[in-house]
Amino acid sequence: MKFQSVKGTRDFYPDDMRLRNWIVDAWRKVSLRNGFEEFDAPIFEYLDLFTIKSGEEIAEQLFSFTDRGGRDLAIRPEITPSLARMVNARINSLPRPIKWFSIPRCCRAEKPQKGRAREFFQWNIDLIGSDDVLADAECLFVAIDGLRELGLTKDDVVVRFSSRVLLTEVLRNFGVSEEDIPRVMGVIDKRSRLPEDTFEKLLTDTLPDDDARMGTLRFLNMQRIQAEPAESIAAKVGVKVTQPMVEAVGRLRTFHKELQAFGVDDWCCYDTGIVRNLAYYTGIVYEIFDRDESLRAIAGGGRYDNLLEVLGGPKIGATGFGMGDPVLGILLSEKGKIPDLAQPLDFFVIDGTDGTFENVIRTVGALRAKGYSTDFSYKRQSVGKQLKEANRRGARKAAIIRGNMVAVKDLMTGEQEERPVEDLLNVPGK
Ligand code: HAM
Repeated sequence: MKFQSVKGTRDFYPDDMRLRNWIVDAWRKVSLRNGFEEFDAPIFEYLDLFTIKSGEEIAEQLFSFTDRGGRDLAIRPEITPSLARMVNARINSLPRPIKWFSIPRCCRAEKPQKGRAREFFQWNIDLIGSDDVLADAECLFVAIDGLRELGLTKDDVVVRFSSRVLLTEVLRNFGVSEEDIPRVMGVIDKRSRLPEDTFEKLLTDTLPDDDARMGTLRFLNMQRIQAEPAESIAAKVGVKVTQPMVEAVGRLRTFHKELQAFGVDDWCCYDTGIVRNLAYYTGIVYEIFDRDESLRAIAGGGRYDNLLEVLGGPKIGATGFGMGDPVLGILLSEKGKIPDLAQPLDFFVIDGTDGTFENVIRTVGALRAKGYSTDFSYKRQSVGKQLKEANRRGARKAAIIRGNMVAVKDLMTGEQEERPVEDLLNVPGK
């Protein structure tokens, strides 16, 4: 019987693993240099944790199961609810703001497609305990810092941001019920992935009132809102201005100024159509795309001020983002940004004459103990063939053992130096 990997999952052969590690190492390095601390959570949780406030789309994509004790569990589709649960459990002892990051493996039973897998890694940056819009700007700065670390520039990617409050207020003003608002947002979230007539049909289904629909479309077609007073936005859309609208526009303006101060505003642009696919967002939201917009989102995030409270904790402001590895990997490869990730050996130890194999092993053991990456051939073969293997393995040096002598050959320059084996065994540690 022949087995295949499950559709939507990925095998990581060593080449793939090198790429994955390169991305994950950059994420970790950037998180730490921005002052975030690492955390992790279990890979499965009680099902309810993910259904309470994440929204319909994620609930439909859950890998859920019942354990032998009859408990309903699910594999995590994201880590934000686990983060909220963990913070709630220690809320009184954690100094705020809490700046944490994580790189969990997540699973979603999504339709596998380019850049979307059923199992993926997701870099999460979250800042909990600050209502200041600076926290939103800092998290987004970290996302951009991560992309920059991997060699991407503002010509490769674009951040699109908006505020959910504005759209919510527009819909409320048009009399859309609290229950229907997330459904309308769900349709708007899909807009860029749907043919225009399908989008319009779906929008008409969820927003049958003509005035409401036309007004919402007018709002969605507006640009650079952060530069306009709330009153004029409301007038153009055909609704009355509300206090939350005024505040939301003010926050967008501050957000933009702070992105300027961080020196990343030219990576970002305002886009009314960004609403995010998760139900818990409450303020500024953003998504990052490749400039050509040929791929799905690279990252997405925003403010979620109610999630901790909904999950049984206090009302504490929170903001952050998630970035998956699949789209990022595709983009880096398409843009030719993946460097040579080969990990060369420091030494390849070669058996120069029959009968010195024990010396080979002794040398290998000693060099490894000193921190040098060292390997040898499993085949008893000629020096020439062993040298070929050393080259294939990308070794920097070959150590050819002949009795008590060793010839150390620099495989880059071809230079060779003969000395006693003991000398090599006594080299200083790496
Ligand atoms: P999300 O938009 O569902 O947000 O996912 C964020 C990113 O994770 C996406 O932009 C994408 O890069 C990646 N991603 C999601 N699903 C898949 C998939 N099936 N295959 C490949 N990549 C995927 C969240 O998950 C929020 N919890 C992020 C967040 C953290 N918000 C605040 N803090």
